Amino acid sequence: MTLPPAQPGETRHAQVTRTLRGAITRGLLPEGTRLPGHRRLADHLGVARNTLVDALAQLELEGYVQAQGRSGTRVSVPAHAPLPPATTTLPLSAWAQRALAGQIEDAGGEYLVDFRVGQPVPDLYPEAAWTQALARRAAQALRAGQPDDPLGPLETRRALAAHLNAERGAQVTPDMILLTGGTQGALDALARVFLETGRVAAVEDPTYPGARAALAATGAQVQPVAVDDRGVQPDLLPAQATLLYVTPGCQYPTGAALPAARRQALITWARHSGAFILEDDYAADLYHAARPPAVLQGVAPDRVILLGSFSKSLAPVTRSGFLAAPPDVVRVLAATRPLTDRVPGRLDALALADVLGSGAYSRHLRRARAALTHRRDVLVQALAEHLPGWTPHPAPGGLHLYLPLPPGWTELHALNGAARQGVALSPVAPLAQGPHAPAVLLGYAHLNPEQLRGGAARLGRAWQDGRP
Ligand SMILES: Cc1ncc(COP(=O)(O)O)c(C=O)c1O
Repeated sequence: MTLPPAQPGETRHAQVTRTLRGAITRGLLPEGTRLPGHRRLADHLGVARNTLVDALAQLELEGYVQAQGRSGTRVSVPAHAPLPPATTTLPLSAWAQRALAGQIEDAGGEYLVDFRVGQPVPDLYPEAAWTQALARRAAQALRAGQPDDPLGPLETRRALAAHLNAERGAQVTPDMILLTGGTQGALDALARVFLETGRVAAVEDPTYPGARAALAATGAQVQPVAVDDRGVQPDLLPAQATLLYVTPGCQYPTGAALPAARRQALITWARHSGAFILEDDYAADLYHAARPPAVLQGVAPDRVILLGSFSKSLAPVTRSGFLAAPPDVVRVLAATRPLTDRVPGRLDALALADVLGSGAYSRHLRRARAALTHRRDVLVQALAEHLPGWTPHPAPGGLHLYLPLPPGWTELHALNGAARQGVALSPVAPLAQGPHAPAVLLGYAHLNPEQLRGGAARLGRAWQDGRP
């Protein structure tokens, strides 16, 4: 027997213990075997005698060996059953199989200008306000002991309700709010309590793939509802559904704002069908214009569940999100939460209460919106210069621009042409379930004006022949 290489950070004593334990469990030292004397075994392994004695004491404590006075040390357990062949597949649940099947692969790669969506925007985050709030709250969070409210701290929910009612035209009380791990945490919790095989979840199409994946993983049938240039088309809604996922303020990814008549039609449909509408208000805090449209939840708090997140507007590291739902829905979510993540992260939640309550968040948003609007305008102007005749949709909020392709073009052609000029873009195809108009997405928030102009010039060169 020889000592295998030490694992990172492993002490000599732990290395010897692991080696002997492994020899016993693999059957190299069968039950009843008498081990050689300490000196001989230590020499054999090339370790100090004390090290070996410590290792044997540890193994005796764990019950693998038994010291028997003068007659030495014997192995006191049988070997484990042999490992199954390496080809055995994991016994995955149907949920895990569906979740894995729904993954979208990121193409990766290094580019001179990277317009792909979903990238962090560090220079927009309110670093000072957030770190001060965290520092102030850290000791308090520790002293509070075991957090026990599955909805999240009351003071955060109060601050959030005030913010949503004042800024978003919501109708929310603190007991309607559940703090979540981002919007994804809210989608997952709602999907688990409302969906299963045999039920229908409707989603606008194309849509945010994180939403579709969470709903589909439950086994429910996910029915796409096509969007046009004014957002989701209520005429195409299925007669029956348990949930409908929409982004009425700023359709993801097209950027369309849903007009009032369509909003009314959604609510009428929900009241008839008994469905809940999941309203993802992802772009509200990153709206460029004066005021984003008020939320649907404020008009129909009985049927609409509002979803929001600070992962884009504050910093991705917070994973702070929330849902605001009718009280009976919140009661079910609060009662089932202890089975999963028990309670939301308390420190982030308390810091969020400070940032919201002190006015720091509103000040931060004013700055961030101005910076985003500037970046968007720079890109729109540069595209107009380098791609005349193209018609980008500069969404009124969010972090990207939607660029429909000319007739006859494919997304693959556009992406390949851009890549040859060192430019990366996001395709819309992975976001769509049904037929969709070919288009690409340009995330601009993380790029500075020089990069934006340079990227637009490269796209102009890449696509200048105007032919697919
Ligand atoms: C439409 C939409 N909703 C929600 C989110 C945020 O999800 P989370 O809060 O889980 O980061 C994103 C982020 O990419 C998004 O694009």
